[in-house]
Amino acid sequence: MSMRLRSEELRVAYAGRPVLHGLDVEIPDGVMTVIVGPNACGKSTLLRTLARMLSPESGRVLVDGRPTGEYGTKELARTLGLLPQSPTAPDGMRVADLVAKGRFPHQSLLRQWSRADEAAVRAAMAAANVTDLAERAVDELSGGQRQRVWLAMALAQETPLLLLDEPTTYLDIAHQLEVLELARRLAREGRTVVCVLHELHLAFRYADHLIVMAQGEIVASGDPREIVTAELVEEVYDLPCQVVTDPLSGTPMILPLVGTPAAGRPTPGSG
Ligand SMILES: Nc1ncnc2c1ncn2[C@@H]1O[C@H](COP(=O)(O)OP(=O)(O)O)[C@@H](O)[C@H]1O
Ligand SMILES: [Mg+2]
Repeated sequence: MSMRLRSEELRVAYAGRPVLHGLDVEIPDGVMTVIVGPNACGKSTLLRTLARMLSPESGRVLVDGRPTGEYGTKELARTLGLLPQSPTAPDGMRVADLVAKGRFPHQSLLRQWSRADEAAVRAAMAAANVTDLAERAVDELSGGQRQRVWLAMALAQETPLLLLDEPTTYLDIAHQLEVLELARRLAREGRTVVCVLHELHLAFRYADHLIVMAQGEIVASGDPREIVTAELVEEVYDLPCQVVTDPLSGTPMILPLVGTPAAGRPTPGSG
């Protein structure tokens, strides 16, 4: 298995407080990797460190075998794109202008805005389903619309490696699936996609490769059908559950015991 993106012994801290405890992350090429784990376990910190927005205390990130520290800013940005968890746009910026910012790493003094840039922006807006919003101001959109606009900007960057931090969080179920289908399609077309998700059912359905994190460590990784067990979920989320098989996709599905008679607690109407 070849890997364009990986890390060695990655340690990251905020103001001396360690958050990632020596992660060896291996992201398989050309498939969709999904990262799950409880709030505050370090998922965003990991993605930001992989994208060189944070520097590790020790350890390193390798892109195509080369430490990211050796890359020029635009060079790295042409290779690896990050959709952050809570991005903010300048006041009043138009959707089309924000998406166009994704082309920045492809420009230089000698190579200004081109037809290729125009085409990439148009394709990215179509893929993220935001073409109709092109003239709107980003800050007046709904949370879900805004999230798809940011996704369009990341797509316009046209990077072979794409990191998406909770791209579905503000979306209704149909739009969540639309984004996940898009991410899967990108992976099928050969891109390497890493996606942080909270919705476990969808995470297990869409992950070719699953990474389960807890407290700044990787506790399991692999094909969700092989690694997801009730013990794992209970250990990671402190949540007693049953694992069943999704009859439509054949992937695991979590049924929490909480809120059912099986939890051993009285339920409304039971007494
Ligand atoms: N900029 C920051 N400064 C200080 N602590 C931070 C910062 N960002 C995140 N943290 C802390 O690091 C831990 C991991 O955060 P994060 O990577 O955002 O987790 P996740 O994305 O898994 O929810 C949390 O305890 C969080 O409070
Ligand atoms: Mg996060």
